[in-house]
Formats: sequence, structure tokens, C-alpha cells
Amino acid sequence: MDLESILFRQGFGSRRQCRALIAEGRVAVAGRACTDADADFPIDDFAFDVDGTAWRYRAHAYLMLNKPAGYECSREPQHHLSVFALLPAPLAVRGVQCVGRLDEDTTGLLLLSDDGQFVHAYTSPKRKVPKTYLAITRHALDERQLQALRDGVLLHGEKAPIAAAAVRMCDEKQLEITVNEGKYHQVKRMIAAAGNRCEALHRERIGALALPPTLAPGAWQWLDDEALRALRM
Ligand code: URA
Repeated sequence: MDLESILFRQGFGSRRQCRALIAEGRVAVAGRACTDADADFPIDDFAFDVDGTAWRYRAHAYLMLNKPAGYECSREPQHHLSVFALLPAPLAVRGVQCVGRLDEDTTGLLLLSDDGQFVHAYTSPKRKVPKTYLAITRHALDERQLQALRDGVLLHGEKAPIAAAAVRMCDEKQLEITVNEGKYHQVKRMIAAAGNRCEALHRERIGALALPPTLAPGAWQWLDDEALRALRM
């Protein structure tokens, strides 16, 4: 594929902007500036630098972000910053979207991709992808509340009770809860319906994929093959 098309497909702007980047000597291949927009390269694992930042050609982008509090999962945020502000511009330009949403004050594992099928697969209610959260509650938890979450609680606007897939009390006011759905404010509403209140929420896992402890709040990384496998499990 020619260098201009490579940059264009990876989100470096319009074709004209990509040609200009190349002409200005800002794109390097194998450590040397390449100023020929028509130069042809095999795209398989193709590595290049733009303004000194290393990139690799990816047909689709799959990434995880450790979402901090105070960011909205929207391109047009209402009251806070957008999680897209935490990503390099080419990722937003190539159409990466959030795989499900976390509330503005919820932290932790957020997946993003520009692969529509992937986004659909992991947000579809049919797929029942387990999502595990750590919740801090306002009041001390008791066995009655835990049992209500296990048995199912009726949320406003829902026809049937929703049960947690797993519930584990970690501390007097700390609960690990897994849900298979992705309804609006689901975990907070479930905890409220069980007679408590969620003060803070952090997503630890999606399927078998855990947020790596090395990924700092606000930082992102590509999903490697192992991470994608963990998601499929
Ligand atoms: N459940 C919630 O209540 N909020 C989230 O952000 C995610 C799950």
C-alpha cells in the first residue's frame, strides 16, 4: 500500500494532510524520513514514525483505557472532558468508539475500537459479556443486601428482576459485583435497589480480561492477541 494511503487509513487526516506530512519529512520508515507519498510498502506489521512517535499499521484498532473519573464516554461531552481527549488524535480520527459506556464518575477498564462488529459483539445484550466492578458503598453491607443482588432486584423501567452473576463482599463497605448486562447506571441502581448506595465504582474486568495494574489512570494501550483471547473466553 502507498504511504499516503497507509497514513490516511491510520487516521492521520485527509489525503491532502497525509501528503503534506510526508512531503515535510515528518514520516520515517525504518528510521529514515520518507518523502515519497507513493512509496509502496507491505502493510503486514508495517512500522513507521510520525514526528518521532512509533506506529504500526493496524487494519482495526483495539485498545483499552484506564478511565479516570471526570471523563465522559462521548465525543460531545456535556459537563466534563471526553475520554477521546486521552487518546492520540489519529485514533479518534479513524473512528474509534467506546465499547459500552462508563459513567463520568466510574473508573477503570474501558475498551475502544473502530471495528463495528467487535463493538456490537461486546455490547449486544445477547452476548451476556460478564463485567466485574468494585463498588464502594455508603452503608455497611449485610447478607440481606448481598442475597437481594444474587436473587435479582427490580429496576425502574424493567419488566423482570436483574440478578448479579456474582457478588463478593470484600470489606464492610466494599463489594465485587459481576453483571452480564450493560443497562444504564446498572450497578448503582442495583445497589440502591438492594437498600444501599454506591459511592464509587471501578471496572476491574470484562470477561477474562483484567485491567493491568501497570496501566495508570488516564493511560491507554493496544489490546494484544492475549488480551483479545481473554475477551473471547
Ligand atoms: N454500572 C453503573 O452504574 N455505572 C457504570 O458506569 C457502569 C455500570
